[in-house]
Amino acid sequence: MELFGRDLITTEEWEKESLDKVLSVAFEMKKHRFEKPFTEILKDRTFFMFFYNPSVRTRQSFEAAATELGGHAQFLEPKSMRLKSKEKAGETVEDAAKVMERYGVGIGIRILEDSIEEYGEGDALLREYAKYASIPVISMAHDKYHPCQGLADLMSLQEHMGEVKGAKITMMWGYSSMVRSWSSVQEDILLLPRYGMNFTLVFPEGFGLDPEIINQAKSNAESAGAKFEITHDRFEAMRGADVVYSRQWMSPKRYIIGKEEDQKLALQFKDWRLTPDLYRLTNNAYFIHPMPIDRGNEVDDAIASGPRSIIYDIAENRLHVQKAIMALTMAKGL
Ligand code: CP
Repeated sequence: MELFGRDLITTEEWEKESLDKVLSVAFEMKKHRFEKPFTEILKDRTFFMFFYNPSVRTRQSFEAAATELGGHAQFLEPKSMRLKSKEKAGETVEDAAKVMERYGVGIGIRILEDSIEEYGEGDALLREYAKYASIPVISMAHDKYHPCQGLADLMSLQEHMGEVKGAKITMMWGYSSMVRSWSSVQEDILLLPRYGMNFTLVFPEGFGLDPEIINQAKSNAESAGAKFEITHDRFEAMRGADVVYSRQWMSPKRYIIGKEEDQKLALQFKDWRLTPDLYRLTNNAYFIHPMPIDRGNEVDDAIASGPRSIIYDIAENRLHVQKAIMALTMAKGL
């Protein structure tokens, strides 16, 4: 279970023992946040954060993580680099990766939504960096996966619930005009059943996710003795849920019909909002969301700011899991 030097594109590619190690280090780091040896793990070291898309939590938490580990996170955007693209000549990924490894100990990349022309392009770019860079490449959310979000969701549920095995989570498509990527939802679909959570996925007709990932999620659930169900009946899906999640995601047609047409598809389902009436069907469920939340559309304030909402704990735990991932993949000794 050597984690030093490993890429993290999705939790699906890491053994459960390695994910358990990340979580246990993250809990320790949370408890001893500003204490040695944690504050010196990346002393004098640089982590590159390469953002094709905007971010609030991911940038802030990775930057804070590098600081708290004694190092530095450098913010990079494509516009500040001279990279080759379909439209213009420039530096190749191979050259960029091989130069970055001479300066830093890790490369984080975010690429999704408007920064790609077809689903899978972001994932391919991360894997190209991973192929050429000898230092770890960490997904900071891309079109397919968001491993740091998945781990923060899991850590927060363990923190609040203790054992998560056997608990029911309902993930509901919630209306928004934001046309959001599949990254956070697909990561949870894969990860949480591995820990024995019974997963119910509910969305309006036409808003399915990546079929390969759905099949993998079903297999993960089966291996862990958990259930994985898909329905279009949000009232039935909410019954008995211990955890609820309500977030918009794009339709599978997004990169064929364009963003505006996808927004129009979503508009047909404006009533798909997590309301108190729906929430009352749950088992006093914890509310989770990766944020940013489209309040009043995806979910009502009564739930997002209600007593069972753990959204800010999840946002905080992004910091702790990322510190653990950085420490384990970019330094030796833990
Ligand atoms: N959850 C998440 O990745 O948030 P940001 O888009 O603000 O980074």
